[in-house]
Amino acid sequence: MSDQIESILHEARVFPPPAEFSAQANVKAEDYQRMMEKAASDHVGFWADLAREKISWHTPFTVTLDDSNAPHYRWFSDGQLNVSYNCLDRHLAEREEKTAIIFESDAGDVTTYTYKELFDEVGRFANALKNLGVQTGDRVIIYMPMIPQAVIAMQACARIGAIHSVVFGGFSAEALKDRIHDAGAKVVITADGGRRGGKVVPLKAAVDQALESGGHCVEKVVVYQHTGEAVEMKATRDLWWHEAERGMPDYCDPVMVDSEHPLFLLYTSGSTGKPKGIQHSSGGYLLNAIITNEWVFDLKDEDIFWCTADVGWITGHTYVAYGPLALGKTIVMFEGVPTYPDAGRFWQMCERHGVTVFYTAPTAIRALMKFGDEIPNQYDLSKLRLLGTVGEPINPEAWMWYYRVIGKERCPIVDTWWQTETGAHMIAPLPGITPLKPGSCTLPLPGIDAAVVDEAGNEIPHGNGGYLVIRKPWPSMLRTVWGDDQRYVDTYWAKFNNRYYVAGDSARRDEDGYFWIMGRIDDVLNVSGHRLGTMEIESALVAHEQVAEAAVVGRPHEVKGEAIVAFVVLKGEIPTGSQRDALVQTLRNWVAKEIGPIAKPDDIRFGSNLPKTRSGKIMRRLLRAIARGERITQDTSTLENPQILEQFMQK
Ligand code: WT7
Repeated sequence: MSDQIESILHEARVFPPPAEFSAQANVKAEDYQRMMEKAASDHVGFWADLAREKISWHTPFTVTLDDSNAPHYRWFSDGQLNVSYNCLDRHLAEREEKTAIIFESDAGDVTTYTYKELFDEVGRFANALKNLGVQTGDRVIIYMPMIPQAVIAMQACARIGAIHSVVFGGFSAEALKDRIHDAGAKVVITADGGRRGGKVVPLKAAVDQALESGGHCVEKVVVYQHTGEAVEMKATRDLWWHEAERGMPDYCDPVMVDSEHPLFLLYTSGSTGKPKGIQHSSGGYLLNAIITNEWVFDLKDEDIFWCTADVGWITGHTYVAYGPLALGKTIVMFEGVPTYPDAGRFWQMCERHGVTVFYTAPTAIRALMKFGDEIPNQYDLSKLRLLGTVGEPINPEAWMWYYRVIGKERCPIVDTWWQTETGAHMIAPLPGITPLKPGSCTLPLPGIDAAVVDEAGNEIPHGNGGYLVIRKPWPSMLRTVWGDDQRYVDTYWAKFNNRYYVAGDSARRDEDGYFWIMGRIDDVLNVSGHRLGTMEIESALVAHEQVAEAAVVGRPHEVKGEAIVAFVVLKGEIPTGSQRDALVQTLRNWVAKEIGPIAKPDDIRFGSNLPKTRSGKIMRRLLRAIARGERITQDTSTLENPQILEQFMQK
């Protein structure tokens, strides 16, 4: 396959860090050496030292790692802290007037918040939440546009020890409803609407729809007035953000919580069942958030850091709402989309705000690359000094474009491998030290014991693919799946007898030990850098009155990474001609409504039955081959009903 030959050729390209970059880097070669040695000889001590140095503890911890109940690990468990205190209060003495957030709206208006202003906003809103009866440990759903109030709401929850769960504003009312129910949320924080690409996204209306059928514990819905559009306000349940804040003082005492106190839940897709509420801790999470922003993004006081991720994803937690603020740095937040008003928006914003460190997803890079070099070349990108990517493997062609056209061959690119579950970067270059290879996330960070193992859990020789695992616990690891601890054990630990964390990705290492991520092992798709469970999309399709059965697989897509292909069995006859086209549209829109536009199938095929083995298992590998338009080379003799393959090959 031409693909493989290409990747072998590209492996030969190595980009050592520029000397000027190395000279000023937060982590220098000698620091790296020292850290690697310390982590190898004293894993627990390594993390204890960092936790003491980087976090302001209210009560210092004496126990670093409690592994008495593995695979449930507890970090710094007798220590107490407040995450919002670490992100705000501790900077006031030195950085009161420093800009914390530069916000650019969809329309291009800019608002900034200094650390003192942010501190006051968070305090006032935290008091408002307390006044509404939100207590330490209560769950709060945040369903907001990408505006500073989303971060203020998250920080306010952290301040009073409430557990937030941010639901991406692009998710539908149905998806929101599932998360509200699963989390047992008491309060929902939302906005009237958001703006993306010149269009209004109604959010409050979706909350109303999610709550309509009852059976939840939501007592209050707080609505931030952002677009000014008309929304319905339910008398005792709903109130405006500004009303909730009326008469509230700016200062709110931070509630000191145990290090293990859950800071947030974030829902992510699995291959089966409903989305999992990934539960993160306070102290451990904060530690990896801090050190990775320092080590991998090399953040300095003068930096303007723009991570383009929405706060609805883990990236927007660790590299927008928490990590950079805990370091007292300046971040950019953007409400809109990269292609509005035109495909120069990102580059225009980099110039306008003097962005120095820029972090985005390969899918965005590929989408913008299509518009050519002229657009980025119109802007002054000379302030950029470091670039990053996350979400999926970046193809060498996109890497080279990013490197050449955006970074002007001057900026290292940090390709960061991690997951919702890991909380922070696990495998990533240290930009002042690690020679880069386009398409590889390079090497594990100090303290992270990542490996590639075979079915038996033995490390396999470099060059071969296997399971990507992490063999030692780390502070920001997920603690459990909310409300389903068995699923935590089964999904992440059972495969190798609770010894290793199983990431669910396959990977190989090259002759230098560099990691190359090969993709997910299970049936989870990676669409535009985000995990979508095939099972969820299948359930959505089956929920449509005309659908009897559905199977969903991925097919490579040049911009999105993977495109969604759905194989559908209808209850009635398969329609033809324009009726068929109409039904395809109906089903695509149906999935968008049930889950969100991100899950809309790109392609829907109809057949009178799904290809199954005699034991009734759907032959997904076969469907994948059909979806890719490949010739079927596999043995189909075990197929119950071979003739349906023909049907599914028709578009
Ligand atoms: C999955 C995690 C972590 C925030 C974004 C997505 C894939 C992530 C990379 C990378 C190759 C990557 C993996 C991983 N992935 N980063 N740099 N190179 N693959 O978070 O939704 O939890 O998805 O994204 O498959 O398991 P997520």
